[in-house]
Amino acid sequence: MKLYEKLAASLRSHIEQGLFQGGDKLPSVRQLAKQHEVSISTVQEAYRHLEADNLLEARPKSGYFVTASVPLYQLPKPSRPAQRPIDVSQWHEVLNLLLSKNVGAIQLQHAMPIMDVPSLDPLLKKIAQLTKYQARLSLPYGDVMGAFILREQIARLTLASGCQLHPDELVITSGCQEGLTVCLRAVSEPGDIVAIESPSFYGSMQAIKAANLKAMEIPTHAQTGLSIEALELALEQWPIKAILLTPTCNNPMGYSMPEAHKKRLYQLAQSYDIAIIEDDIYGDIAYQYPRPKSIKSFDEDGRVLLCSSFSKSLAPGLRVGWIAPGRYRDKATHIKYVSSSMCPTLPQLAVADFIQSGGYERHLRRLRLQHKLGRDQLINALNRYFPIGTCISFPEGGYLLWVELPKRVDAVKLAQQSAQAGVNIAAGTLFSATGKYRNCMRLNFSEQDAKIREEGIRQLAYFINQQLIHRE
Ligand SMILES: Cc1ncc(COP(=O)(O)O)c(C=O)c1O
Repeated sequence: MKLYEKLAASLRSHIEQGLFQGGDKLPSVRQLAKQHEVSISTVQEAYRHLEADNLLEARPKSGYFVTASVPLYQLPKPSRPAQRPIDVSQWHEVLNLLLSKNVGAIQLQHAMPIMDVPSLDPLLKKIAQLTKYQARLSLPYGDVMGAFILREQIARLTLASGCQLHPDELVITSGCQEGLTVCLRAVSEPGDIVAIESPSFYGSMQAIKAANLKAMEIPTHAQTGLSIEALELALEQWPIKAILLTPTCNNPMGYSMPEAHKKRLYQLAQSYDIAIIEDDIYGDIAYQYPRPKSIKSFDEDGRVLLCSSFSKSLAPGLRVGWIAPGRYRDKATHIKYVSSSMCPTLPQLAVADFIQSGGYERHLRRLRLQHKLGRDQLINALNRYFPIGTCISFPEGGYLLWVELPKRVDAVKLAQQSAQAGVNIAAGTLFSATGKYRNCMRLNFSEQDAKIREEGIRQLAYFINQQLIHRE
């Protein structure tokens, strides 16, 4: 056996025994060479060997890390929601979540991005500058479709997802939530049925409720997303008007629907002549570079209404979102106008400048690395502390992860117990139109330091085990 093979075998066995876990940084090439009294090129060769086996990954300027891309745990099973249109409930539960302020708690609950990073400094500087020197700009009414300079920048950004949009095809909205509401209203009438993923983001389900629509939850796979076969069956049986989905870096599961499925979904929508509302809010923070294509990129006839915002990639307080409503543009612009007129100008100008100056790309590069590391660390903590039978999704972007606990665990009770102990989580019931997924929860891996998150997971495990013992 050659020297580098020996070294690689020894490192492999350390990883397999759990001495190094997914996301852990390995010693530097120099350190390892010194420890094992071998040359630098021997260590480099050993690392390359393990990298080829997908056990390690090299991160530019950071070194070698143990990869977590081969899940050691089980993925949640495909969901099996009721196959009929339903009225969305859960508003009071969502409101409680929105109002929850457990100050000082370990926050695993909200979908809040990382904002305490230097890569956001140029944006803050621009906001301060605009406020100081160009405040008058913010006083008049702006363009109802949003600042042209921002729409130009967004049109350029969407090239990365395979779209070719003109700035005039875009409408700026007050966040993605308004975009979803506007698009739903543009494609439907009260009483219509909208197909959604299950589990699904609670905000889009509440938008369905507010528009007096019915939701049809479609079985969804934790790795490939909404089941095209199940959707086709539903389309055969029910007069579905539109599909609303988050196919890229999904909330709450983190999967990205494979490109071939996105294409099939689009073709299915074409054959049933229905609209697709594509929520792409996490698309820019996919770990994969270049980012995955959107369904909109296949759109030939304007039936896809793409919605997004900078709430997850920059900051939700900016309230800068946008839609590309395709053939529904005029109706969507009218609904946007009557719902909130135009959006404030200054945040739009600041975001446009940040994108134009390259700050947005730099910030995304940083987020990608940080989120991927956060995912691996959280998965390790879950593997370490949670009971056998726990299933975990494997996010390919963003900072949210779905956990399915053994059936006997009540996640609503768990959320209450853990909140009292200072750990906040989002119970799975929020992600169903009718309060299913009671043994599930969504966790974030953006808001805290990994050590604090791990402490949160340890405390959650304590309450889970208590529930399991008492229910035996
Ligand atoms: C999938 C998804 N869509 C839309 C929104 C709403 O975004 P915004 O804050 O831009 O309105 C969120 C926020 O959590 C989300 O997760």
